[in-house]
Amino acid sequence: MDVFDAIKGRRSVRKYTSRPVERELIEKIVDAGRWAPSSGNTQPVEVVVVTDPEKRSIMADVSGYARYLKDAPVALVVCVNLSRARSRYGELGVSYFAPLDASVAIQNMMLAAHALGLGTCWDSVFDKVKVRELICLPEHVEPFAIIALGYPAENPSPPSRRPLREILHWEKYGG
Ligand SMILES: Cc1cc2nc3c(=O)[nH]c(=O)nc-3n(C[C@H](O)[C@H](O)[C@H](O)COP(=O)(O)O)c2cc1C
Repeated sequence: MDVFDAIKGRRSVRKYTSRPVERELIEKIVDAGRWAPSSGNTQPVEVVVVTDPEKRSIMADVSGYARYLKDAPVALVVCVNLSRARSRYGELGVSYFAPLDASVAIQNMMLAAHALGLGTCWDSVFDKVKVRELICLPEHVEPFAIIALGYPAENPSPPSRRPLREILHWEKYGG
């Protein structure tokens, strides 16, 4: 799939079929995240793949806006390894760079999933303590986002975007 088609065609999917996602596809998607840029190439991003329905149900319960995690056959818990994040830039690496590193990796993974015919949806509002316990994260690994993954059971229309002329400024703001 052409990269521009992938960027424009990807949608947040909130309804999924029960069809399991093949392990090799999950690996391909996480590998796309691995190739994302990272600050100083620190590569702090790690992913815990959760397919267990009970765990997904708990994750849905402790999430503010992600009931769909119950039905999506896979939840990708995108985490940041704080030791790696801290290694080059200290606390700035943790507070500033790590969320950026995780976000670009997530976008890579969502585009890769779309190119493979799969849907995703990003969830960042969840009880981090409960999720951390649920998937046995060590102290130095912080959960950042949960990405639902599965075969779409809906084909959402694209939510509108601000026009290009409104967000693109040449040489100076308003130019
Ligand atoms: C940081 C971030 C957090 C998001 N959190 C949620 C969420 O908790 N629940 C949800 O249903 N969608 C969530 N979304 C998806 C947005 O609602 C969606 O991207 C936006 O409406 C545009 O739709 P599109 O992704 O189909 O282009 C999130 C997206 C981002 C980038």
